[in-house]
Amino acid sequence: MDKPNEVTVQNYKGWEEFYNIEKSNKLDFFLYNGRMIDVLFSQQFDRQFLNNMSQLATQIRRMALTKMGARKLSGLLSHKRAMLYFVQPSTRTFISFLNACHILGMKISEIRGTTTSSEVKGESQEDTIRTFASYVDLIIIRHPEAGFAEKTAWLLNQNKQPVAVINGGSGPDQHPTQALLDIYTLERSFRNIGGMDGKKIAMVGDLKRGRTVRSLSYLMRNYKDVTLYFVAPEVFHMKDDIKSFLKKHEIEFHETDDFASVMPHVDAIYMTRIQKEYSEAPAQETEIYPEFHFTKEHLSVIQSHCIIMHPLPRRYEIEVEVDKDPRAVYWKQERNGMWMRAALISYIFGVDDEIAAEFQ
Ligand code: CP
Repeated sequence: MDKPNEVTVQNYKGWEEFYNIEKSNKLDFFLYNGRMIDVLFSQQFDRQFLNNMSQLATQIRRMALTKMGARKLSGLLSHKRAMLYFVQPSTRTFISFLNACHILGMKISEIRGTTTSSEVKGESQEDTIRTFASYVDLIIIRHPEAGFAEKTAWLLNQNKQPVAVINGGSGPDQHPTQALLDIYTLERSFRNIGGMDGKKIAMVGDLKRGRTVRSLSYLMRNYKDVTLYFVAPEVFHMKDDIKSFLKKHEIEFHETDDFASVMPHVDAIYMTRIQKEYSEAPAQETEIYPEFHFTKEHLSVIQSHCIIMHPLPRRYEIEVEVDKDPRAVYWKQERNGMWMRAALISYIFGVDDEIAAEFQ
């Protein structure tokens, strides 16, 4: 087989300048007619938006239970098409987006590796996404390159009729839709104990590279008196950018490597795996860090309402015997992703009101 050509590199004037603008100062660029159409990072979400999305996700979930409701949902976006461009590995984000699109009746195309697109012939990344934009109304991206989803939005928003772009958790970037489904899971779990305000949340594991915990941390500015506990070995401490953000927004946080001391006091424990695929040092890569694992013995230590979350996939961080405990919500959390992603897509295309009308 011929060796693939090197991908053509194109120079787009203005992109670097745009990329370096502070995120909070460019939120309007991702709106179209006042509505968010590009979903790229968690700083785009305020509390009203998060509340609305959670309500919408629940409404979709309820409608999908009946044949009549499911039929109504599947007619809402039957005139729209989506491209799933996932050139980094994914199981649940890909499948949940795919099924979210199906729930709303959208038609789907997918590319799951650059070796099956014309990038193998050397076509540039930018020309590749422009090609997608010729055919679809929404592009959902998981790509290894930092900023690529944002660059796609930047490029396509220069058109009169922009195509919506969602970051499906790319490379070192954020994972904003995971943050949405995490908030939905937290809010649903705490609905009888006052919601998110005042809660204590432990984030455990690879906080340095885990895009889920980083994206979720940004959302804490929307809630009152939340306290975060960052529990990690020193090599995987939360990075300074997140800590600066929390300080700026006066969100209390603590850092520790003593998981056992934190467990009994928190309302949620968010476990993460060591992200071996990004390892820089082989010694770190082989470490298992059992002191940062959650075992069945820990179930008697945590509070009766304390939930255990994980974005998945897991490795050894949570013993499988923990799965049976009702406080282990990670499989629900995973499923919530489908409802939340359906909610987000229905919002982007402005059919959220039609869903809400079913409950009036
Ligand atoms: N949580 C998550 O992003 O999982 P996948 O990598 O399987 O999509």
